[in-house]
Amino acid sequence: MPLSRLFSSTREIPESSVVPRHIAIVMDGNGRWAKKRFLPRVAGHKRGVETVRSVVRLCIDHGVEHLTLFAFSSENWRRPPDEVSFLMNLFMQALRDEAARLHKNNIRLRVIGDLSRFDPSLVEVIREAEALTGANTALTLSVAANYGGRWDVLNAINNMVAEHPEKAGRYEEADLAPYLTLADAPEPDLFIRTGGEQRVSNFLLWQLAYTEFYFTDRLWPDFDAEAFGEAIASFRQRERRFGRTSEQLDKPAGEN
Ligand code: IPE
Ligand code: IPE
Ligand code: MG
Repeated sequence: MPLSRLFSSTREIPESSVVPRHIAIVMDGNGRWAKKRFLPRVAGHKRGVETVRSVVRLCIDHGVEHLTLFAFSSENWRRPPDEVSFLMNLFMQALRDEAARLHKNNIRLRVIGDLSRFDPSLVEVIREAEALTGANTALTLSVAANYGGRWDVLNAINNMVAEHPEKAGRYEEADLAPYLTLADAPEPDLFIRTGGEQRVSNFLLWQLAYTEFYFTDRLWPDFDAEAFGEAIASFRQRERRFGRTSEQLDKPAGEN
């Protein structure tokens, strides 16, 4: 891979838009949703898949180009083995059930994360769904599975150094960018976390440098069209300065 300059919000000011081009979501609160109903935690995960379907549709309706969903973190292996294996099966089942529908709706699917720890049969289903939908253009849906922000950065560094040892000691931000997951997407404009916690939990650490954060107490299975609309409305009220002053934003481009 050549060292090419890719967009970075700390080097260039991105075009602002009313609708976020890229939304990244930590889908949290499935377990609590189930517990409130005296159901096993896994019932919440099952319901969560329905919310994914609805949010994908809402993104397309709003003209969002990229949706990145945190489905399973590199830390989630610490959960009870039964819950981990349920989540793996649910992921496999959802990919099998949804791939054709995603394709029909012109949605490109890809999975980001360290796939080396997954069962080969799951990796095969992932690769098939990615191949089927690879040329689609309505929305890019990136599902983060066994993903960790620190893994992403370290993985990128290792690949960059392996391919360009000659530049050691002189690497720049833009040199690393092409090796990160999501390299071909604009950085997320809006980060949403459901479930009430206000933390990043090792999601996209590099890519969130200038992202707007939105936290809601709504549990993921309850994150409906109204809740999605509230997140978008909050985003619209933000003033994205990227280091500049408010006064500079009022001036026409070029007069700063
Ligand atoms: C998020 O819901 C789904 C995954 C992490 C896979 P949780 O399972 O974390 O739900 P809570 O936080 O226990 O309610
Ligand atoms: C973060 O949720 C990961 C996903 C949503 C997949 P967690 O519920 O695992 O996060 P922490 O550990 O409570 O921060
Ligand atoms: Mg949680």
